[in-house]
Formats: sequence, structure tokens, C-alpha cells
Amino acid sequence: MNVLARSPEPRQLSLTLVPPSFRDIVVRERVAENLRERGYVEIPWDATWVTNQSIRIRDDLRRMIEGPHRNLFQYAQATEIDDQGFFEKNGERKEVLTARETAEKSVVYDHKFFFHCYDTTRAVLAAQGTPVQSYERLFSASGNFNATARRLTAAIVGRLDALNEDERDPGRRYQDSLLDRFVGDRVVTRSAVYKSHEKGDTVAKLHRDRCGLTFHWISSHPGLVLYDRQGQRVVADDSNPGKLLIFLSDKVWTATRGKLGTGILHGAANPENIAGDEARFIAVTFAHCKLADADLQWAERHKDELAIDPADYPL
Ligand SMILES: [Fe+2]
Repeated sequence: MNVLARSPEPRQLSLTLVPPSFRDIVVRERVAENLRERGYVEIPWDATWVTNQSIRIRDDLRRMIEGPHRNLFQYAQATEIDDQGFFEKNGERKEVLTARETAEKSVVYDHKFFFHCYDTTRAVLAAQGTPVQSYERLFSASGNFNATARRLTAAIVGRLDALNEDERDPGRRYQDSLLDRFVGDRVVTRSAVYKSHEKGDTVAKLHRDRCGLTFHWISSHPGLVLYDRQGQRVVADDSNPGKLLIFLSDKVWTATRGKLGTGILHGAANPENIAGDEARFIAVTFAHCKLADADLQWAERHKDELAIDPADYPL
């Protein structure tokens, strides 16, 4: 029997890509409209689900930090973009020269441990002999964040494209479909534990993310500050598992040739005295999109638009 004949492929694909419930949420919460106007949006999300995923990741990440094989959980290629697995970044101080470098070297003041989990990471690490089976909770929970972000991204950028179609002002209209650029590109969940800090310290200094869309699921402690499209300072509800923060990042600026604005500036201060075991934990997912050489050349010519003086943007 021809199984494919009974289940038409295109319909299944579209349902997998964007579950109707996700499309409903994106419309109801005006996610695309908010991203266009303010650059960010906070929407209600399932607090129990987020808490369950983050506990599983956090427990495994802590065991990995303290455990004997943490350096086995690393797969590094020549380019940083393909780094997968476990990393420690020690917050050595360097002079930051440009806004682009600020984004790329966002770790220089922070001391943190993080895990970059792509859909492929478990298999890649297993192939090099890493004992992945001891940390299945981290892989499956990160995979859940990846899958959910992937479907949400398709719903969001599909809606952004629809609004773009309706845009009457040619000066605000971007050229190429964002859906085409995002679908099939990679997503990666970054979970991180920051080392202890004194009260008032900067935990993550001001930066923009390099991906296209950022999904901030949870922080263990409040402290995330962002600057919206109008330059307003916004204190995010980042430690509330019932709130999902979504914002635009730099690849959307490049992909739309600036029509949707630059990536959203953000960082985290430490309003409380977080120490030792209580160090800040975060889980975020980055959704990437494809860029052509011509896009990158455009970005290079317009990089001055990314310049900022961090003194103008206190955390
Ligand atoms: Fe970030």
C-alpha cells in the first residue's frame, strides 16, 4: 500500500511547521506587530512546561560543570558559529572597540559556563565518544526548546511577511521573504550558568545577539534590561516562567536591509547578591536565518548604524 498517497505531504509539512495554536498565539498577542514597532514582545507561555525544561537542563549543566568529563562535551570547529556543547568563558577584560565587536565579544566581562545544543549536538558528541547518555535530560529539554522555537519562528516570520505584503509605505517594505530565510536554518538553545557576582555587578554586558530571533525562556534571577526600538529602557520579566520574551536580533537587520531595525540591545545586571550555587541560570534559543553575500556586503557598508556608546544605555 502506498502510505504517502493516504497522507498528502504538503499538508503534513505545514502543520508540522506551524501548529494552528502557535499561529493563533502569534496573532492574538500581536507578536509580529510588536516586533515591527518595538523590536520585542513578552507573551504568556506555559510556565509549568518552561520550568520543567529548565530544571532538567539546569541540573544536568550543573553536574557537567562539577563533573569529570565536562571537557569531553565540546565540539569545536574552526569557526565559532559551529561550536557545539559545553564551554567555559572566563571573564578577562579587553577593550571593546566597536558595536559589532561588543556583540561578538559579549562574554568578555562575564564568567560563565554554557551549553550550545543544536538538533545535531547529541549525535555529534556521541560520535566522538562523549558519554551523552548521562545527560539525556539536557539534550531532550534543549531539543524541546529548539523545536518550539522553530515552530514559533515560522509562525512569527510568516506573519511578518504578511504584514510586509500589506505595507503601503515602500520605504518600510523589505525585499525577500523572511520565512524563506528562516525555515530550514539552524536553531540553538544556549543554557548558561554565570559565576557569582556582587550586588549591582553587570552579569551580561550590553550587546545584541547575532542570530535573527531570540527567545528568552527563563532566568533564575531577574536582571535583564533591554532597549526597545524607541530607545526606551525596559526591565524584562525574565525570571517569570510564564512569560516568553522574544526580540529581533542582528540577522533580521541584515536580511531586511535595516527595514525592521537593528537587533535589540540588552544585558543583565545583578540586582541581588547572587553567589555560589545561586548563580544566575538562563535558557535562551537563537533562531538563525540565511544571509546572502550581498546582504553581508550591505551590512558591512552600514555597520556605523550599529555603533553605540554603552554609557547611553545603563543596565
Ligand atoms: Fe544576548
